[in-house]
Amino acid sequence: MGRRGKLGDRGSRHDDAYKRAKDQGYASRAVFKLEEIDKRFKLLQPGRRVLDLGCWPGSWMQYAAGRVGEEGFVLGLDLAKVELDLPPFAQAFVGDVFEIEPAEVTAKFGDFDVLISDMAPKTTGDKTTDMFRSEELTRRALTFATTVLRPGGHFCAKVFTGGGFKALLADVKASFSECKPVHPKDTRSGSYEQYIVARGLKANARVPGTPPVDPSP
Ligand SMILES: C[S@@+](CC[C@H](N)C(=O)[O-])C[C@H]1O[C@@H](n2cnc3c(N)ncnc32)[C@H](O)[C@@H]1O
Repeated sequence: MGRRGKLGDRGSRHDDAYKRAKDQGYASRAVFKLEEIDKRFKLLQPGRRVLDLGCWPGSWMQYAAGRVGEEGFVLGLDLAKVELDLPPFAQAFVGDVFEIEPAEVTAKFGDFDVLISDMAPKTTGDKTTDMFRSEELTRRALTFATTVLRPGGHFCAKVFTGGGFKALLADVKASFSECKPVHPKDTRSGSYEQYIVARGLKANARVPGTPPVDPSP
């Protein structure tokens, strides 16, 4: 098959994903990327506690809530407010990951089994800037992971692959037992996004959460 045919296939898969997401009541077609990764790497299971960074408009939270069920918990965080009706065991908060300390999250909500991050910067059109900002977000997600995840916990984070990708992958590899870059099939044609999926946070990679200082005298 020629190049045009391949791109055409990816383009129609993309439209199809949009329709399927709408039909199934998901807030975004991004859900199918998480579904594909989850089926392959078995990240989400009933009862698991999940932190979702960059959760707006909310399709990953919807999917994760469906997988973990009412014995589990899904906490979402994004610059934008999620407007969906979510079950009581799924809560979304507005916030900037660079302004919130991971230890504040564990102090309030306890440890997590899985951290998923679909965070993406507002694209500027300048590839180098966008990749750099995306890598910064992924590094921040890794910092969160090493604090909020229990030993043995799992990680999945989007990154626009640029010059710092190899170093980033190496840093994730150092903290987890298994680590793989993944390019889901519902990714837009021409996109340079990938997901870093890692299983099994090493106990010695975990930074224990510091409880916040009690302001009372
Ligand atoms: C591709 S969207 C996420 C889609 C989501 N996974 C879903 O399924 O609906 C990327 C999100 O990352 C968020 N984001 C970017 N920078 C952030 C930051 N510093 N803190 C929190 N969220 C951020 C954006 O606001 C945006 O909503």
